[in-house]
Amino acid sequence: MEPRLTIRRTRPLSGAVTDAPGPGQSHHFPQKDPDTMTTPLAVRYTAARTLTTGPAETAAPGPGEVELAPAYVGICGTDLHIFHGDMDARVKTPAVIGHEMSGRVVRVGPGVEGFAPGDPVTVMPLRWDGTCPACLRGHRHVCQNLDFIGIDSPGAMQQRWTVPASTLVRLPESLPLDRAALVEPTAVAVHDIGRAGVRDGDRVVVVGAGPVGMLIALVAGAAGGDVRIVEPNANRRRLAEQLGLRTWDPSADSADGDVLERVRDWTGDAGADVAFEVSGAEAGVQTAVDVLAVRGRLCLVAIHPRPRPVNLHRFFWRELTLIGARLYDREDFETAVRLVAEGTVPAEQLISRVVPLADALGAFQSLEAGHDVKVLVDCTDSSSEGSA
Ligand SMILES: NC(=O)c1ccc[n+]([C@@H]2O[C@H](COP(=O)([O-])OP(=O)(O)OC[C@H]3O[C@@H](n4cnc5c(N)ncnc54)[C@H](O)[C@@H]3O)[C@@H](O)[C@H]2O)c1
Ligand SMILES: [Zn+2]
Repeated sequence: MEPRLTIRRTRPLSGAVTDAPGPGQSHHFPQKDPDTMTTPLAVRYTAARTLTTGPAETAAPGPGEVELAPAYVGICGTDLHIFHGDMDARVKTPAVIGHEMSGRVVRVGPGVEGFAPGDPVTVMPLRWDGTCPACLRGHRHVCQNLDFIGIDSPGAMQQRWTVPASTLVRLPESLPLDRAALVEPTAVAVHDIGRAGVRDGDRVVVVGAGPVGMLIALVAGAAGGDVRIVEPNANRRRLAEQLGLRTWDPSADSADGDVLERVRDWTGDAGADVAFEVSGAEAGVQTAVDVLAVRGRLCLVAIHPRPRPVNLHRFFWRELTLIGARLYDREDFETAVRLVAEGTVPAEQLISRVVPLADALGAFQSLEAGHDVKVLVDCTDSSSEGSA
């Protein structure tokens, strides 16, 4: 079946117009009146390929905590790995998953300042211990005992979610909440561009045009990079082109020809200044190493569960640098909010489908079939009406 690339929605986007209260109006929640709403629901992963819908656990938020009403939750590759049962050793079932989200504050616990019911927020889903060697060096986002909320502890795919107030990142009222669900993966891209030190005029090759690769390419372009994105899947290349990105097909029979030759032509035989490995594939690693110029930087973003062969002679010969990049910090999140809000990251073009909470299973199935780039679960809609 031909994968869909056009934006397809099962229900209309919640626009800023309906989400934003006008002057003198009170905030309203993105869902039915919370006072009259029946029991809030949660979607739980219980075993490989199995999700159940049941009552969410709700309790008054404790000191320093905030209860949220999640509006939209994005599904990422990690959620798909969990769904496939590949992370059962880490994920304690039954587990509410989901960590790319937007929503509104419902209740604040004792001692929480600066947030009030109705405020639109997203969550930086990290809880660090503050005491390990990484934290003490100021690298809390890669805490050696990191709790990634939505994997190691309950996530956002539910109608009520209690999180530490320290994880909240404020959203502008003018930003529609569906688009805001793209802030978390955008923060990944912002962090990666920072780690790689992309500068104005840098020639940048992004290997892999999944959602993360596309966001890296967009943010690298916004940072002044001249970007090419390498992707074997024709549908993903087409979507990248619709986003204004220039793509190359690395397949052996490609009309683009050999990627390395293209890079030589493009750079006057020098090679690229920066490569991002975002494919997770062995061949992608090789491409990312081979395209680099002398003193080039390879930023490793993809998760490679197994060791990969790497041409270390190339690293020696060209004095290359390998830079690991994981997650984000608060500054990355705040930059990401701005990039999504101002449209530098055209989040609405990356959202290929929105499904009601009750159809979360369909969202996972459609993602694994490769038909979508970014699927959002609409937690404000617990009906199964209009499902995909
Ligand atoms: N560093 C972090 O904090 C962080 C955060 C989120 C995701 N990730 C990782 O980033 C990676 C990308 O995430 P995603 O959601 O975009 O994944 P994805 O699987 O949707 O995208 C990977 C893309 O790479 C393409 N690809 C495969 N082989 C290739 C090759 N040889 N050359 C070029 N492209 C090739 C695939 O066709 C696919 O489109 C994953 O490994 C994910 O786990 C890392
Ligand atoms: Zn720590």
